Amino acid sequence: MQENTPIYLDYAATNPLDREILSKMMMVSTHYGNPSSIHKIGKNAKTRLERARELIADNIMTDPNEIVFTSGATESNNTVLESVSRAHKNAHIITTKLEHKSILETLEQDKNIEFSFVDTDSEGLINIDDLKSKIKDNTKLVTIHYVNNETGTIQPVKEIGELLKDTDVLFHVDAAQALGHVPLVMSELDVDYMSISGHKIGAPKGIGLLYIKNGSKLNPLMYGGEQERGRRAGTENLIYAHAISVGVRKAVRDFDERSTTEQRLKELFLSELDSLGVPYELNASKKVSPHIVNIYLPFVTTDIMLTRLDLKDVYVSGGSACNAGTVQPSHMITEMYDEKRANQSIRVSLNYMTTEDEIKGAAQVFSEIFESLK
Ligand SMILES: Cc1ncc(COP(=O)(O)O)c(C=O)c1O
Repeated sequence: MQENTPIYLDYAATNPLDREILSKMMMVSTHYGNPSSIHKIGKNAKTRLERARELIADNIMTDPNEIVFTSGATESNNTVLESVSRAHKNAHIITTKLEHKSILETLEQDKNIEFSFVDTDSEGLINIDDLKSKIKDNTKLVTIHYVNNETGTIQPVKEIGELLKDTDVLFHVDAAQALGHVPLVMSELDVDYMSISGHKIGAPKGIGLLYIKNGSKLNPLMYGGEQERGRRAGTENLIYAHAISVGVRKAVRDFDERSTTEQRLKELFLSELDSLGVPYELNASKKVSPHIVNIYLPFVTTDIMLTRLDLKDVYVSGGSACNAGTVQPSHMITEMYDEKRANQSIRVSLNYMTTEDEIKGAAQVFSEIFESLK
């Protein structure tokens, strides 16, 4: 069988481990002390942990005290929702139907939470007036993603923050897909909580951040330790803390270059499809992060397309994997359009490391599949 060079275009799912991050991890790996121990080895680990926190805070313009290390955006999201639930009886939370499952399923399972969905349009953008109208006396939190993980739609987080600023309603942003792709300066956003994921920026899986604005309360999700100023129990992972700190620094430092490259590559991909005559429609096109393109393919189902691409070593995604190893249609595309369209849509996600050859090669494979199905 002919060997193809693999083309990975699933960066919104995860990123490979960045080499510079790996060498930083190796460097700090000798500091094995427990940051909570009071002897010199522990204190040394604690100092280094705080250095990682400071690097993150400097890069996203916050106070280090506002940064908590978690195991990922899933934990950060769960922590915020459960914090609000524990603080109030029947807390009302406003969100969208286009959130990651770590928001939606947490809301569904917590019987103490009442939640409402704010309207979104065909691009997946929230309607601010509808958000205003859904705020009630018992509304305690609005939780909305920054960049949609399937369509790349960028929500107006600055505007939402301004709307909620002078109210008692807290604002949480799931920014797992945002860092490195769209501008992220905390001091410019009126946000109480923000979730960040390490493996989307070149750090390993299993590390994330929760930004908690000074003065905004947080009830921990887990108990049993005073680590992270009582906000996240459990011995801190110094190596991973450094990994994510380097990931954040690089994502912020190289933001302009990365996002420009991604936008150019995305446009190249679409123009290649056009010139090869592959029919498609964009599932979101106006305010979209440069690293994600979600397209409807009228000539094939998601399942068949993913299998055919996989056979040619082109790796993209569509919907969410289910236990049987097949794909369930995306709940987001279903919400924005309908299930039929969701069953014929795929997500291509790239990053600054993607090459033009990979983009052209992937478009060529799309074209071959299209021609073979004619
Ligand atoms: C929008 C969004 N939120 C949350 C998560 C979960 O992040 P993690 O894998 O760090 O738990 C993801 C991961 O794909 C995501 O895209």
